[in-house]
Amino acid sequence: MNVLAIESSCDETAAAVIVDGRVPRSSVVASQVDLHARYGGVVPEVASRQHLRNVGPVIEQALADAGCTLAEIDAIAATRGPGLAGSLLVGYNAGKALAYGAGLPFLGVNHLEGHIYANWLVEGPEPVFPALCLVVSGGHTDLVFMRAHGQYERLGGTRDDAAGEAFDKAGRLLGLPFPGGPHIAREADQAASAPFELPRAWMHGTYDFSFSGLKTATLHTVERGQYGVSEIAFAFQEAVVDVLAGKTSRLARELGAKEVLVAGGVAANRRLREELRRRCPVPVRIPPPKFCTDNAAMIGAAANYHLALGETSPLDEDIFTTNNWARV
Ligand code: KG4
Ligand code: ZN
Repeated sequence: MNVLAIESSCDETAAAVIVDGRVPRSSVVASQVDLHARYGGVVPEVASRQHLRNVGPVIEQALADAGCTLAEIDAIAATRGPGLAGSLLVGYNAGKALAYGAGLPFLGVNHLEGHIYANWLVEGPEPVFPALCLVVSGGHTDLVFMRAHGQYERLGGTRDDAAGEAFDKAGRLLGLPFPGGPHIAREADQAASAPFELPRAWMHGTYDFSFSGLKTATLHTVERGQYGVSEIAFAFQEAVVDVLAGKTSRLARELGAKEVLVAGGVAANRRLREELRRRCPVPVRIPPPKFCTDNAAMIGAAANYHLALGETSPLDEDIFTTNNWARV
């Protein structure tokens, strides 16, 4: 089954052709990062206007890279939410219109489920259930137990900032460009150690996270002016990674998970990958960085198993903007 997938939930316009939910024939991502960098964050109105310009060419490029036409496509999938409303509407309606015009089945996909299914795009055996998923992106930090395809139980998550959001805010405090995550990682590599530690919020007795205290501590450290940018970046990254890897490994052990699946843009972080692999009692799967950050290949992978069960979405259904693990 060839699925043409579209993703436009935030600031990347993406399209991909995915075979049987596992093999990407193409994956095109038009990033708007440079456009938003000067504002220090994603400006929703600017993002939706840019999606409008990009969506047609990106879909055409995905078909061209896959060496196929719409005639070879069996179904169309698009991200339905969560995300920015104006951004989601562009990709979702482009998908619906194409499906209607070509007489193809259409499916709306949950963006977070998409991030998890990036783990199906890697060559080799499929992930094994039950799996514990750590979803760490710019908008979400969730620990989700997955007993089977489509079965999600959210066991923990952030009480304030998402992990990626914390990286981005700390990046801003340190005067680094947007988005802060990759820049903090680069600075931390330069320091390789720090003569001080930043606090961790362990939220004992829960599998929840909190990063706002760490943000304040980072601000005070910057203001004191005693340490350099790379040292603070190092201490910040270690604090986030310690809590994410510590809680994930403990919960995986407690649940008897057979695998840990990591997903979302922050999964591109090398220190997080190292620490999860070092501490977890079971194999840890992490997609390659290009499938960790927003892309459409992951949407095609998640769509595949829904479509295989005969599920489709009505064309009069609308997008949704908030996190909802019950709507996947
Ligand atoms: O999944 P994603 O592309 O978009 C959302 O769905 O939010 O995640 C973007 C987030 C940003 O906050 C970015 O700073 C973070 O992922 N990120 C990283 C790294 N690469 C991207 N954070 C830490 N280390 C990285 N290497
Ligand atoms: Zn995302």
